[in-house]
Amino acid sequence: MPAEWAPQGIDTSRPSVARVYDVALGGKDNFAVDRAVAQRLQDGLPEIMSMARVNRATLGRAVRLMAERGVRQFLDLGAGLPSADNTHQVAQRVAAASRVVYVDKDPIVLAHGRALLADDDRTAVITADLRDPETVLGHPEVARLIDFSQPVGVLFVAILHHLHDDEDPKGIVDAYMSAVPSGSHLFVSHFCDFGPLSQELQRRFLELLGTGRFRTSKEITAFFDGYELLPPGVVPNPQWHPDEPPPADLSLAQRMHYAGMARKP
Ligand SMILES: C[S@@+](CC[C@H](N)C(=O)[O-])C[C@H]1O[C@@H](n2cnc3c(N)ncnc32)[C@H](O)[C@@H]1O
Repeated sequence: MPAEWAPQGIDTSRPSVARVYDVALGGKDNFAVDRAVAQRLQDGLPEIMSMARVNRATLGRAVRLMAERGVRQFLDLGAGLPSADNTHQVAQRVAAASRVVYVDKDPIVLAHGRALLADDDRTAVITADLRDPETVLGHPEVARLIDFSQPVGVLFVAILHHLHDDEDPKGIVDAYMSAVPSGSHLFVSHFCDFGPLSQELQRRFLELLGTGRFRTSKEITAFFDGYELLPPGVVPNPQWHPDEPPPADLSLAQRMHYAGMARKP
């Protein structure tokens, strides 16, 4: 079989979180090694694929709500590969002038994001580690697109659960939030630890991708300490500002991520 084409500098011998997530979303920017990991995750928990789509839909609702609340600039941290309804597309449907900086440590996101954004000068993709807020906030593309005197939408969508406690995820959230003014918004979607089933998934993530720290709803809620948590609080993704009434009984995939949004006072 011919080798798959890969952008320069991309290691196709090891799986990456961005590309495994792309498999789960039905994307094409992934390699055999990523599909093998996705398959092994799916073998243990068949619902894992629909979980990614549930999360992605929640990201869209969060961006739309921030835009409807007047936010016109967004920092999408741990943005992932371009997919359907990316942050700038959702925001620009509400307000065409919306500006977005996508941040991801995986260079494949830049490689594919550039093509998507070639003719959009209100949007940029940067390759950076979000655990280094100083570097991200000081990046020339951030300086070009984000006006720190105006509210910013800060998005941590399906990313903080890749950070372990000793990496100080709350300190990282606060570092970004302290750089943005009152009226800014914070959105977090996070793998929830609700018992043995989620713990089994966490074990598989650690084994296959080397990363994963599921947190209880109380721990996820603590990310919003210091900000005004907006209704309905931190809840399973389908119950967070649903477009249609959520099912009475949530499936495992639907319960796997919890989400919440806060406003900086
Ligand atoms: C599960 S994906 C989520 C993508 C998107 N936020 C969403 O919810 O649809 C997590 C992304 O975070 C990125 N990531 C993981 N650790 C990171 C870090 N320390 N800094 C920047 N990006 C990171 C991964 O490369 C991956 O693209």
